[in-house]
Amino acid sequence: MAQKYRTIDLFAGVGGIRIGFERAGFTTVFANDFEPKCKDTYDQNFPNVQLTVEDLQKIDIEDLPEFDFLLGGFPCQPFSVAGYRQGFEDERGRGNLFFDIVRILKKRRPTGFLLENVKNLHTHDKGNTFRVISDTLNKIGYDIEAKVLNSMKYGGVPQNRERIYIVGFLRENGYIYNFEFPESIDLKTSIADILENPRDIDEKYYYNDKPLFEKLQKYPFREGVVYQWRRKYIRENKSGVCPTLTANMGMGGHNVPIVKDKRGIRKLTPRECARLQGFPGTYQLPNIADSALYKQFGNSVTVTVVERVARNMKRAALKDTDNIKQPRLEVELAV
Ligand SMILES: C[S@@+](CC[C@H](N)C(=O)[O-])C[C@H]1O[C@@H](n2cnc3c(N)ncnc32)[C@H](O)[C@@H]1O
Repeated sequence: MAQKYRTIDLFAGVGGIRIGFERAGFTTVFANDFEPKCKDTYDQNFPNVQLTVEDLQKIDIEDLPEFDFLLGGFPCQPFSVAGYRQGFEDERGRGNLFFDIVRILKKRRPTGFLLENVKNLHTHDKGNTFRVISDTLNKIGYDIEAKVLNSMKYGGVPQNRERIYIVGFLRENGYIYNFEFPESIDLKTSIADILENPRDIDEKYYYNDKPLFEKLQKYPFREGVVYQWRRKYIRENKSGVCPTLTANMGMGGHNVPIVKDKRGIRKLTPRECARLQGFPGTYQLPNIADSALYKQFGNSVTVTVVERVARNMKRAALKDTDNIKQPRLEVELAV
């Protein structure tokens, strides 16, 4: 059975997509990212099938092992409102990585794929970018379904993170007709649930006595609420969840969301960021700079959302072939 669910984990980062798929019963046979710092985190958590650190554009497609599903949250900068707005024209070649994915799909013709990206991939360049993506995938023989899923509605974690998920299956298999995106679920986890015990938190995360503290303490912080420092003022997240975690958190300054606990006002810790992305408590954080960890978890995906999509993908592929009916599985909360 596992033979039919072998995956390659591209743009693997710290393996968020991998965990979701492995929980759904898929087996990872290859992992790639060109960021050496990801390897520390990745290999510590996935000692078998470790990260191949290489530019995907330099990898020979012939060298990839046999696989059935391609997975990849391909770099989102060219499509991001906050990013450079270059789309496929991006000079540094990032936009072209989609076409590297296409080259692999064309040559190896796996059963299916999951691609993940920022929400506005759909509307970028008046919808032209997404039209190119969709037409290209159709042209090479894949039918696709795409949907924007918010982690707080589909992943059971208190993070307002909207991402587009593109699922594709080989047209000849017809699995796309068996596939549906998961339904929304009630959010039962609050910010308070994901916070670490103040006793266990290093003093370095607290603003007490740090330069910004004077400005911060004028604001009536409440426990269980997430705040952001916006250069001159504090922004409170009224919705009771955390705003989208981003790679910018690793750039220093005050990009990491702020909370208040019994000991004071502080940044979220890397562990709390991992929890907000649905990573399990067993996920190990290596002893590397916080800036790298913040970037890695901001760049990652919400594991619990991916897991639900992966289960439905597997169900779609099973239905037709083995006629196995699976019950709808509830998301196992990671926190
Ligand atoms: C949005 S992140 C995906 C993170 C991943 N889904 C996770 O759960 O951690 C995109 C990743 O693509 C990687 N990347 C960008 N360009 C690449 C390239 N040319 N070759 C390989 N990896 C690349 C980045 O280093 C980054 O880790």
